[in-house]
Amino acid sequence: MDHFQYQGGKLFAEDVSVQSIAQEHGTPLYIYSRATLERHWHAFNDAVGTHPHLICYAVKANSNLGVLSVLAKLGSGFDIVSGGELARVIEAGGDPAKVVFSGVAKKPEEIRYALEQGIMCFNVESEPELQRINQVAQDMNQTASISLRINPDVDAGTHPYISTGLKANKFGIPRERAVAAYKLAHSLPHLNVVGMDCHIGSQLTQVQPFVDALDRLLLLVDELAEYGIHISHLDVGGGLGVKYLNERPPHPKEYAAAMAERMTGRENLKLILEPGRAIAANAGILVTQVEFVKEGDEKHFAIVDAAMNDLIRPALYAAWQDIIRVEQVTSAPTRTYDVVGPVCETGDFLGKDRQLAVAEGDYLAVRGAGAYGFVMASNYNSRCRPAEIMVDQQRVHVVREREKQKDLWKGEHKLT
Ligand code: LLP
Repeated sequence: MDHFQYQGGKLFAEDVSVQSIAQEHGTPLYIYSRATLERHWHAFNDAVGTHPHLICYAVKANSNLGVLSVLAKLGSGFDIVSGGELARVIEAGGDPAKVVFSGVAKKPEEIRYALEQGIMCFNVESEPELQRINQVAQDMNQTASISLRINPDVDAGTHPYISTGLKANKFGIPRERAVAAYKLAHSLPHLNVVGMDCHIGSQLTQVQPFVDALDRLLLLVDELAEYGIHISHLDVGGGLGVKYLNERPPHPKEYAAAMAERMTGRENLKLILEPGRAIAANAGILVTQVEFVKEGDEKHFAIVDAAMNDLIRPALYAAWQDIIRVEQVTSAPTRTYDVVGPVCETGDFLGKDRQLAVAEGDYLAVRGAGAYGFVMASNYNSRCRPAEIMVDQQRVHVVREREKQKDLWKGEHKLT
């Protein structure tokens, strides 16, 4: 359930008409709903119940300060993958002590910064990374808390580009090397082994792969205990899918409850979840205006002012995201359109073969755009990135101003 609903034929973001926001702030425009973000976060947090746990929102899904501040106020933890994401979390009021740091190539300066800020844990992806973190911690006369990302080799059954838990992926440490890697970590004097983690992929639509991965990790936890290595948390990553078309992903409650149930009797093992998409995707829309309706020889095109640089998921993953009218009533005829942007690439489309009634000047909304939307935007074709708005009941906050042309060459230099 989200808070983008029609009222009297007009699309609303919470209590505000989307058309009125678009008219005031221009398009293309991302609009987020605070109530939806909060609702989704609580769905995860509440479903785990009384088992000790922490929801670490995956910042990469949407790192806008407005979004992060809303989640920080709920007491959320955060999963980060760069020093930049940590800086954002702190700027937004997040607690570094609730931050886990993932990613395959953390630079020494990022490790140093994270240690200075007192993050909860590094999710380590390789043996050389263990050595690097140990070295930085030693230089700082500190101890770093670490978790090892284990590759459980389960098939998440998702798009190959966003599947991460298979042996062929670059992520994590293979199960067969896990015990040796833990022993190495345990032996390094500036490391404190506290956890185990995994992340098997994104946009998963079934609970079973998550359960399989968790079961494999639990076996390993028990095996480690035999070697005197005791960990205090298990982080099962993110990856729960959302409904874009006719997927039927499990509800966060079902997913989180299944995870918590597997942990019964292991109250000394804190459960960490790293959801990104399931919290943010359907808490955001991308609003765009129709520039032209163009008749091709074989196709009808709705040429809109948003492009692949604003929302790249359709072009990059052939992702399907719903495109709806902002005002339902129209006298335009319904036809099958390719909804395309102004960028000079054939791959620049937001949707293909969509049944729509559109006329020049109409506003359309791309749904499910709150995750991996603005964060993946670029300035390709020297297009200014869109503004971002957060609606909170009847209030409209600009949480990021539209880029200006002079921002486009910030930091660039001419030759004289
Ligand atoms: N934790 C780790 C270690 C991750 O790598 C990811 C996502 C997450 C958590 C959050 O996963 P989520 O709950 O959002 O599925 N750009 C792609 C998605 C890439 C996901 C990468 N890792 C897309 O637009 O579909």
